[in-house]
Amino acid sequence: MNSYIEHVDFFKGNDPEELVREYGTPLYVYNEDIIRKHMESVSKVIEKYPYTANYSVKANTNIHILKIALESGINCDAMSVGEIKMLEAAGFPYDRIFFVPNNVSDEEMQYAIDRDIMISLDSLSQLEQYGQLNPGGRCAVRINPGVGAGHNEKVVTGGKKTKFGVPEYDIDKIFEIAGRYNLTIAGINQHIGSLFMNPDPYLEAVSNLLNIAKRFNNLEFIDFGGGYGIPYHKLDDEAEYPMEDFKERLLPILDKFVESYGKTPLFKSEPGRFCVAEGSVILGRVHAIKENSGVEYIGTDVGMNVLVRPSMYDSWHDIEILRDGKPVSRDNLSERTVSGNICESGDLLAKARLLPETKKGDLVCVLDTGAYGYSMCSTYNSRPRPAEVMITGDGKVKCIRRAETYEDLFRYM
Ligand code: LLP
Repeated sequence: MNSYIEHVDFFKGNDPEELVREYGTPLYVYNEDIIRKHMESVSKVIEKYPYTANYSVKANTNIHILKIALESGINCDAMSVGEIKMLEAAGFPYDRIFFVPNNVSDEEMQYAIDRDIMISLDSLSQLEQYGQLNPGGRCAVRINPGVGAGHNEKVVTGGKKTKFGVPEYDIDKIFEIAGRYNLTIAGINQHIGSLFMNPDPYLEAVSNLLNIAKRFNNLEFIDFGGGYGIPYHKLDDEAEYPMEDFKERLLPILDKFVESYGKTPLFKSEPGRFCVAEGSVILGRVHAIKENSGVEYIGTDVGMNVLVRPSMYDSWHDIEILRDGKPVSRDNLSERTVSGNICESGDLLAKARLLPETKKGDLVCVLDTGAYGYSMCSTYNSRPRPAEVMITGDGKVKCIRRAETYEDLFRYM
């Protein structure tokens, strides 16, 4: 594909140069329609049984995006009190929030308890802590289903090499602690990891979790977690996550469980990336072109402070080069390395990437940045965080977060 942004009309007729003239570079640009489409899709993963999708807000907590989730009728999962507060600000009622934290303090746990927010405890030690804070309470437990998957070992959250969840061999201890504090285990949840395009490990984990579920009486809900991938290599025509095939294969597993469990719990999933990743690009400016030992460096202002995924996980993000606001043809490509403006050699957006000839003054358009993009931004090298704008359904441009200023950097000192 020569240009994804043209293929989907990402900017809906707005000129990228106009956008950056008004909001500067780097700039996160979102497309509301794409986000709505994905949120709608995850709300239909299970149609035969009671089901809710929880958007996992760690992928992107912009309040305007949370409001889209609210309107789409999906629920959310939060990892921290900060994420709960973002959801409160977006208007989410507490019964539509699932708190799935890791290693939290008494104060953080109490915040959820005081608001009757369902909380999942992801270790025996945190279950004990919950029992002490809220004897007689209703809660969930995160299970490690023994299977993991993900694009990088840093984001595999199931299986033997992870800090998350209670392993199957400790299930009896859950009952023992619950008995001691008179707790109701209302649900169990899992998350095997982030970004898989092949649903096999997820389906295996669903089967494992459902087998484990049979040991719990009267579960109200079972949450299978998120992790559905998106095609980051779309310029090379990578296929989408096989959602329909996945749904077809999931259903008989659920049928079998429902038949043997004797009651139908509420099923849940927890996708983050799938909902928002494809709904954003970053526009950045090319400020320098240089050569060093046979490598051509395209020097941009999209540093690892703006998008950390390539330097943190070696993640691939497609890049389009825009000149006068239009994608440069990809007919003639050669290897170029795209770097940011941060003082680290690892500050590279793309290494030896096939790109068209690029000139100082061009824009880079980095694709698929809606998930774990802005939410992982930092002010490293004392660079204020960029603005976020959204192309709304009717093609208007709405600023959904202003750029930080230098004053913001020393506001707390
Ligand atoms: N539920 C739980 C408990 C999680 O830990 C996560 C992600 C999700 C749901 C959502 O997973 P998703 O559907 O977005 O894959 N920063 C990394 C991804 C870290 C994911 C952490 N947990 C990245 O940029 O690839």
